[in-house]
Amino acid sequence: MSTVTERVAIYPGSFDPITKGHEDIVRRALGFVDRVQVAVAHRRTQKKDGLFDIAQRLELIRTSFADEAAVEVVEFDGLLVDYARRTGANLIIRGLRALSDFEYEFQMALMNRQLWREFETVFLAPAARWTFLSASLVREIASLGGDVSEFVSPHVLAALHERFGPGTA
Ligand code: PNS
Repeated sequence: MSTVTERVAIYPGSFDPITKGHEDIVRRALGFVDRVQVAVAHRRTQKKDGLFDIAQRLELIRTSFADEAAVEVVEFDGLLVDYARRTGANLIIRGLRALSDFEYEFQMALMNRQLWREFETVFLAPAARWTFLSASLVREIASLGGDVSEFVSPHVLAALHERFGPGTA
């Protein structure tokens, strides 16, 4: 007798802020898993300084997927493997935009599997028009008054405008 187990993937990252590239990856993952946990890493685990605090990032992501019951938005502190093991996700989703992403992503995938051997990483390519897009570029352009309306959803744009002003474009 076979049992049907739910396939749960975790999509970890900084999401500072969520971009249309991230949203695209989540929707692609929903094509082959039952649920996606979008997991915002606490700053303690990252080298970079943040623009939005964790609560704001979570709220922006929740708004992006308000219409999607299969997407859960969570935060985590400490090791990703420990968090994932507790929640039952054994698949990591990561977007791969260009060859330049590869070395870091490959290293993380192998290390995560070393830490928990059932933890597999699935790399997804975003739509071609988002391959040059990154949250750090969005932050930089928005902070300098540039137009990022093409790269983020309207509610994220509103949050960036609130932070930096509507900009010049
Ligand atoms: O979007 P980012 O900043 O590239 O995401 C990196 C992230 C958050 C996925 C990575 O730093 C991470 O998993 N941090 C949690 C701590 C951890 O598990 N580190 C070991 C990774 S092998």
